[in-house]
Amino acid sequence: MDSFSIEKLFSQKPVALAPMDGYTNIPLRLIVKETGADLLFTEFVNSDAIIHSSSKSLQKIRILKRERPVAIQIFGKSPEKMSEAAKIVEQFDPDIIDLNFGCPAPKVAGHGSGSALLRDLPLVSKICEAVVGSVRTPVSAKTRLGWDENSVNIFQTAKIFEESGISFITLHPRTRSQKFSGRSDWSYIQELKTRVSVPLFGNGDICSPEDAVKMFKETGCDGIMIGREAVKNPWIFMQIKQLIEKGSYSDLTDLDIRKKMCLRHLDLYVEYIGEKKGILEMRKYYQNYFKGINNLKTFRQKIFKMDELEDVRSAINNLYDENYKTMTNQKGP
Ligand SMILES: Cc1cc2nc3c(=O)[nH]c(=O)nc-3n(C[C@H](O)[C@H](O)[C@H](O)COP(=O)(O)O)c2cc1C
Repeated sequence: MDSFSIEKLFSQKPVALAPMDGYTNIPLRLIVKETGADLLFTEFVNSDAIIHSSSKSLQKIRILKRERPVAIQIFGKSPEKMSEAAKIVEQFDPDIIDLNFGCPAPKVAGHGSGSALLRDLPLVSKICEAVVGSVRTPVSAKTRLGWDENSVNIFQTAKIFEESGISFITLHPRTRSQKFSGRSDWSYIQELKTRVSVPLFGNGDICSPEDAVKMFKETGCDGIMIGREAVKNPWIFMQIKQLIEKGSYSDLTDLDIRKKMCLRHLDLYVEYIGEKKGILEMRKYYQNYFKGINNLKTFRQKIFKMDELEDVRSAINNLYDENYKTMTNQKGP
């Protein structure tokens, strides 16, 4: 197998799956890998928890060979602990170790990590230098514009990343105080691209294959990263490739394709997360796989009582059959 390099990754204008707490576990990562994602990110993992070998955290940094290339993301506020955690993470053999400087959630920023670090750039510098200096794996950084609209400091932050040996940057152009409100301001991605020499991932509000092409065109970024839309539509990676290569893409409304992907996702959940927990966590995806189809409410009520794989599989098959029949009956002569 070809060895990984940052240069090779960015030579193909990569489309990456964004790190998403509670979502980007092995099952979703494998699903989007199969639909064409070029780089996968784990959910963020707390450096303290990694050091203390919390079983939940070790589960989150587990990666498979067939996911490659894959980045493990960590967060924390202490340079020493971040470098200690990075050394542990390196033993799991990721292609990239990504540092989180963007999370606005109180459970992270409220404790001085994630986007809270954007108020203390000397500390950002120490964290980056400590991690880069303690591992052989390339280290990247994901960030926002700044703490709030009065302290946008992305260009200074990016300079620090570059000077500390960060291999590439991801920018989600909102401030911490914006959280997910309003629109991300892509003009900052465009401006940052002209100011840094390391590769840049643009991220934020890519909701369709057309948006993906638009972000590449408008900003000149080296790669794009997709978060929320990948959960709603895991096929988006394939559709983006089709749009770039052929100028059009397949509309995946076909119920049969949706059912197959849904069953595959469920099987992966059970294989990698376990039957009980897998079935439980898979519930958040049904509305995306079966958006707009009849009887979804009844289906969800039914499967909420099920905890065995075969029962859930047959409920999905029944839902499909019922809707397939309705659709066939509705077809005109
Ligand atoms: C449920 C959820 C969890 C997230 N967890 C993380 C995370 O663990 N690490 C991180 O850097 N960003 C996280 N993000 C932010 C995304 O990676 C991404 O930057 C953001 O959603 C904007 O991209 P999008 O518009 O394509 O969703 C999360 C976002 C969501 C919606």
